[in-house]
Amino acid sequence: MTTIALEDTTTAAKILPGRQAPPAILVIFGAGGDLTKRLVVPAIYNLVRAGKLPDGFAIVGVDHDDRTTEGWCRSLTEMMQASTRAGRRERQGEAVDEQAWSELIRRMDYMRGDFTEPETFGRLEKLLAKQREQNNAANVLFYLAVAERFFGPIIEQLGHAGLTLQPENAWRRVIIEKPFGHDLASAEALNAQILKVLSEDQIYRIDHFLGKETVQNILVLRFANGIFEPLWNRDHIDHIQITAAETVGVERRGRFYERTGALRDMVPNHLFQLLAMIGMEPPISFDANAVRGKKAELFQAIHPISPANAVRGQYGAGTVLGQKVRDYRHEPEVAPDSGTETYVALKLGIDNWRWAGVPFYLRTGKYLSTRTTEVAVQFRQAPYALFRGTPVERLPANILRLRIQPGEGLSLSFSAKRPGAEIEIDGVEMDFAYRDYFAPLASVGYETLIYDCLIGDATLFQRADTVEAAWHAVQGLLDAWARTPADDFPNYAAGSAGPDAADRLLSRDGRAWLPIGAGHPHPGLSK
Ligand code: BG6
Repeated sequence: MTTIALEDTTTAAKILPGRQAPPAILVIFGAGGDLTKRLVVPAIYNLVRAGKLPDGFAIVGVDHDDRTTEGWCRSLTEMMQASTRAGRRERQGEAVDEQAWSELIRRMDYMRGDFTEPETFGRLEKLLAKQREQNNAANVLFYLAVAERFFGPIIEQLGHAGLTLQPENAWRRVIIEKPFGHDLASAEALNAQILKVLSEDQIYRIDHFLGKETVQNILVLRFANGIFEPLWNRDHIDHIQITAAETVGVERRGRFYERTGALRDMVPNHLFQLLAMIGMEPPISFDANAVRGKKAELFQAIHPISPANAVRGQYGAGTVLGQKVRDYRHEPEVAPDSGTETYVALKLGIDNWRWAGVPFYLRTGKYLSTRTTEVAVQFRQAPYALFRGTPVERLPANILRLRIQPGEGLSLSFSAKRPGAEIEIDGVEMDFAYRDYFAPLASVGYETLIYDCLIGDATLFQRADTVEAAWHAVQGLLDAWARTPADDFPNYAAGSAGPDAADRLLSRDGRAWLPIGAGHPHPGLSK
């Protein structure tokens, strides 16, 4: 029987079913914002329903607007009902559980406050002291669901007010949203600023990709199964493709996106999390520092990305999922001659023994033909020798496709003989879909992250050095692109698979991208 050391309370909380998080007060800065409404509060509601939060759990919302606790709760209730009507709840059509919801809003308090004024934090301290008496909850989790320019100032003010000091037997933690910095220098500066106030183990930097079950499952696939790891290296793998294709444009985020672009928005964070899960060395345990140490090593081993191995694109007008859409340069708050990329494709090399010579091709873009996030591991071709002199023209490569979203699951393609007198070989596919095996969980993707933070498990959060190593890997390319603006934008039509140059990035290596979205369950095998 497997025994687990229960003195490690974090691990115990993760593995013991039904274990609740300890009593705590969650302070949400940005209580009136979109993130709080769409993700943070619905995730907490799901945790309440799953019985993961204790009675002594309370929420304090802080924001600039003048509103009452009742007004705040009303707007959250309306949002929950609207998302039910829109069928956005994971289990379609499911109504809000009135009992769980009223139990949750009963524990909510709203406080108006300017994030940069010391006076706000003085009042917050008093409110927390009152909550402590009422709920017996001395632990406090500060959630910064605010624009990035407030991260540093809020943490400084929390420090000045003494709110980050951890009393005996209680903790103070801070969740910081993306984007963590705009480049390497700003990420380093932000780390330096917040590490003056907090110790690293109080900081939980979010990358919401790590809240996705399928992303977490990559480590289980690799390390809980005996068959993959022996093949997981340059001797057996030809190359790896990582795709995050979106069918949305920049929506109402033009101002943010103009100074961000696809490279900053998706690559050193989300795509690199997938890269790390696929490429890192086995950690000695699932302990946060063991896992994050291996990730940092992988990022440090990324070969500097030359502009010759990178393609940028910007969408022109087109048709996405049957809807006509305008070009990026005509989106609200976007410059008519914008040089911001909405698509990026890269070829990366990793300088270590496992991966030397194995290209990792990454691509992501807005307004592409299909929404899909997946990793495809293409194995080396079997030698053809045996089939010489037979009608076999080609041997398809084995491809392991990990579908992160949608249609969560994985498939493995391999060759099989067509029935008949002749030797004819065709590609076939084995498929595993999550929904065939497991009941879907009510989830917006933030439940695990918030719960992990409450129990003190930082495995799924970014550490200062991993964030900086990731920025370091893309900084040269950011600089090169800033020096030489693209002269061919827009260079792909909305609703297409991206710019032609992205195809050439692979064809010059004698390879090709897998069609976007073709890894969905039973797409019909390409012959
Ligand atoms: C966000 C980016 O971090 O991730 C967005 O800012 C992007 O531009 C989103 O659309 C993608 O996340 P998901 O979970 O929808 O794949």
